[in-house]
Amino acid sequence: MENIERVYNFLEETKEYYLATIEGDQPRVRPFGTALLYDGRIYIQTGKVKNVSRQLAANPKAEICAYKDGRWLRIACKLVNDENRDVKVAMLEKMPSLKGMYDPDDGNMQVLYMKDATATFSSFTEAPETVTF
Ligand SMILES: Cc1cc2nc3c(=O)[nH]c(=O)nc-3n(C[C@H](O)[C@H](O)[C@H](O)COP(=O)(O)O)c2cc1C
Repeated sequence: MENIERVYNFLEETKEYYLATIEGDQPRVRPFGTALLYDGRIYIQTGKVKNVSRQLAANPKAEICAYKDGRWLRIACKLVNDENRDVKVAMLEKMPSLKGMYDPDDGNMQVLYMKDATATFSSFTEAPETVTF
């Protein structure tokens, strides 16, 4: 399995993860749940009106942490905005619960993909394993 698929599958298993961004010299973190593997990239989804979106526009560096059953994953990456409408449609198809809040053409819905990612799988019992994609 490719590195990116392993990372995506872990996010699918945990269903939820924490996304950290930077605002000036202050870290900001919040729960997220959207993830989509599309065209060899992992996308997440948010709204442009949110602070998280503003923070990523000013500084795309982010870190994601997900945990399940004694294993955890940290992904350090840049999150890059993508205006490809097909990705937005695919995101809504995969996560229909978003359809009540977002529309690909509402000027708010935003998808971003992980770039220059370094992902580390850790556990209490095994040595950490780092992959890049
Ligand atoms: C389990 C869970 C998953 C969430 N997933 C997302 C998500 O994928 N995208 C999103 O924009 N907000 C998501 N939210 C809501 C954000 O955490 C919330 O809007 C947060 O305030 C955004 O950060 P900000 O206030 O710094 O902009 C989720 C909330 C929870 C509890």
